[in-house]
Amino acid sequence: MLKAIEIAPDVYWVGGVDWNERNFHGYTTERGTTYNAYLIVDEKIALIDTCKAPFADDLIARIADIVDPASIDYVIANHGEPDHSGALPAVMAAAPNAQLVCGAPQGLGVLKAHYGDGFDFLTVKTGDTLSLGRRTLTFVQTPMVHWPDNMATYSEADRILFSNDAFGQHLATSKHFDDEVGLPEVMAQAQKYYANIVMPYGRQVARALDAVAGLAVAMIAPAHGVIWRSHVADILAAYRTWCSGEPEDRAVVVYDSMWHTTELMAREVAEAFVECGVPVRLLDLKVNHISDIMSAVLPARYVAVGSPTLNMTMMPTVAGFLCYLRGLAPKGRVGIAFGSYGWAPAGPDEVAAALEAAGFEMPLPTLARQWREDAEGLAEVHDAVVSLVRANGDEGPMA
Ligand code: FEO
Repeated sequence: MLKAIEIAPDVYWVGGVDWNERNFHGYTTERGTTYNAYLIVDEKIALIDTCKAPFADDLIARIADIVDPASIDYVIANHGEPDHSGALPAVMAAAPNAQLVCGAPQGLGVLKAHYGDGFDFLTVKTGDTLSLGRRTLTFVQTPMVHWPDNMATYSEADRILFSNDAFGQHLATSKHFDDEVGLPEVMAQAQKYYANIVMPYGRQVARALDAVAGLAVAMIAPAHGVIWRSHVADILAAYRTWCSGEPEDRAVVVYDSMWHTTELMAREVAEAFVECGVPVRLLDLKVNHISDIMSAVLPARYVAVGSPTLNMTMMPTVAGFLCYLRGLAPKGRVGIAFGSYGWAPAGPDEVAAALEAAGFEMPLPTLARQWREDAEGLAEVHDAVVSLVRANGDEGPMA
């Protein structure tokens, strides 16, 4: 078991490492995840967040390496989702004198709904402070990033923002800091996390960023993954970009195919973007998980989706992706629907309707082709996409 780690003087990581978690409510976590909790030892002792219930014993053992758990004065619950609060009953039993600090009213409501009202609650709002002695904690509520109850805790003396879900990554590692793992890996996991968990709440993220903009932050200690200490500015800038609703001139082509005609069309759509100098990714739903596809969708202005007709509807893989996409609600994107059919274009038509319902701008008619696609038909698909991209002024250097 990993030992508690002192991340700053008298501030310890004491969380849980879930090495083999591979599915986080439908999101593939190929690198596992962590449930970070932090212990601050001052004149008063505070634990910031707990972890998922199966990791309660690990958490309490790590705390016991530093202090007697019974000496904890405050348990701060920044968020009530069970990956951070599942161990609360065990922790509160081990710390019977602790007050349970949470946001009001949402944090209190979530915790009472999950764990009852048998705790000594201390509710706080944005701007409220809690003195631990040499340091004072300040609370910043960050509603809908990504639940109504989300809150961050800031220690000015340490210049650490305990951000809970925000800025997290599903990344299990024996290292604890961004620079120990390397920025490309950490940022890729942060991007996947944002795309699959935070994306629907861009406006709320922008407000949360504004709320913390005035704080001097040397370290962001999230509730998942590694701690940002060398790349704080990078992750803040990435969140600003991701929440802006201003995608880059990139394209994603997502499809499934039965007898390769829709696949041929997908390749042609991708070639059209290449011709225009727009970076593109071609992603077959048979071999790419929808949560990985969302990482590619996050920065992409163009999202082309293809399905043949199967049993008078689109393929279930495509329907599942479009359902997931609509829930994550990317803003300001251009959609393109395409696909093949035998005797009824129901598949590609349903793709178009689903993209429209998800809020995509749909400037092209549905690119639907009957039976086998020929060179002339593929050229029509190609030219339609090239015309669209050039009309948008996205003609790149390779065109
Ligand atoms: Fe990591 Fe919203 O819980």
